[in-house]
Amino acid sequence: MFKCVATLLIVAGVCLIAGTNGFFLSKTDKCQVAVFKGGKEFGGEKIMANKSFVPYLKSVGQVAKACKVKVHVIDSYKQLKTPKDFVLSSEMPMALGTGIHFDLQDQKGGTVCNKLCMVSRSWKTLPDATCFINGLKTKGIKFTEPNLIDDGSVGKLTSTQLDQLKVHTQELCAPKKKTSKG
Ligand SMILES: *[C@@H]1O[C@H](CO)[C@@H](O)[C@H](O)[C@H]1NC(C)=O
Repeated sequence: MFKCVATLLIVAGVCLIAGTNGFFLSKTDKCQVAVFKGGKEFGGEKIMANKSFVPYLKSVGQVAKACKVKVHVIDSYKQLKTPKDFVLSSEMPMALGTGIHFDLQDQKGGTVCNKLCMVSRSWKTLPDATCFINGLKTKGIKFTEPNLIDDGSVGKLTSTQLDQLKVHTQELCAPKKKTSKG
């Protein structure tokens, strides 16, 4: 009985040390993309966002609330087939987890400016939609026609830097492959 308890304690100790070390060592090399729960200011597809993009999304939610609209999300982070896949610069935020495509609904989920409306830039004729788009700019959030919100990093980094960042992010966030088949 005593032997059994002693063994258990040692095993528990080893696990604790291994676990803690693992935590400290892998901290910087973990996938930083996770689900962002936006609350009632967001609808549509679930948002997958890099940690660094979360403060931007929170501001987006504040602007939406102030303008009485709901951000209807069309897509966000996309896992590529392989990290080296070519990505157009306009689609880069989707590969980095730093952007969303969207259109606009009212707070009850009714249409304010759907995708066609965004593409034809008709939001300019709609007071609530104009309030939202202009509100983004005053908060320093990048809006690119027709319907992209992102953190602005694509405009600031070189294509080489973006490519490295993309490969790094995509590698870290790739689903773990099952090794059973070798
Ligand atoms: C993702 O977030 C982490 C932590 O904030 C940051 O270090 C990293 O640069 C971000 N990646 C991208 C592609 O913005």
